[in-house]
Amino acid sequence: MPTDTHLPTVHMTLPSGDPVRVRPLSPTDRDRLAEGFLQLSESARYQRFFTPVSRLSNRDLAYLTDLDHVDHFAWGVESVDGEGVAVARYVRLGAGVAEAAFTVADRYQNLGLGRRLFQALAAVAALHGFARFEMTMLADNVAMARLAGSMGAAFDPPVDGTVRCEVALEERLWADLPHLEEFLRLAGEAAGVEVDRRRPITR
Ligand SMILES: CC(C)(COP(=O)(O)OP(=O)(O)OC[C@H]1O[C@@H](n2cnc3c(N)ncnc32)[C@H](O)[C@@H]1OP(=O)(O)O)[C@@H](O)C(=O)NCCC(=O)NCCS
Repeated sequence: MPTDTHLPTVHMTLPSGDPVRVRPLSPTDRDRLAEGFLQLSESARYQRFFTPVSRLSNRDLAYLTDLDHVDHFAWGVESVDGEGVAVARYVRLGAGVAEAAFTVADRYQNLGLGRRLFQALAAVAALHGFARFEMTMLADNVAMARLAGSMGAAFDPPVDGTVRCEVALEERLWADLPHLEEFLRLAGEAAGVEVDRRRPITR
């Protein structure tokens, strides 16, 4: 999670009033991601990975931070004190579709950050030509189900304790996202493409 304050960053105030800093994850965030993961509750780790993971391996960390920012993109969030707060990520599954996943540190959950990150991630994915997100969550993950539901998700019936859903990436999802232009500019810079909001970016 980001702490290099000289790097381009979106300064955002959560609906709760908490200030946070957001920017695309990069390999320099590797150690901070490992540390942030260790701070997560067992329950949050299980909800994210569906298995009792105690630490991220070097291979995991390389995969999770060495991104091309088009087919694999992630927002990293930190507090103003440099504490790791959240990660929101998408990974291409196929033509026009990406898997999305979110992790918010326990202390910051239920403050509206997940919703903001969903909006910021969806806007970036749409710019890169994605039409929908797929998500899989544990069937008892009320917070993720509510978040996805508020974004218009269509849910499949539960299978083996997990639920899969799809969200169509439409502009109305992120229409009220504060700092939208900044988010898109940073994501475009990370991907090395110029952002033209009038048409989707495709490669
Ligand atoms: C799921 C998660 C990303 C949501 O992020 P968040 O910042 O807590 O979400 P928000 O505060 O934006 O709230 C989103 C919705 O979830 C609801 N919610 C949040 N925490 C909740 C909780 N503990 N119980 C019930 N509902 C909850 C909010 O009320 C809101 O619902 P609404 O849109 O109907 O008002 C976060 O809880 C998390 O990281 N959990 C652990 C990891 C995980 O489950 N990841 C998802 C795997 S795909």
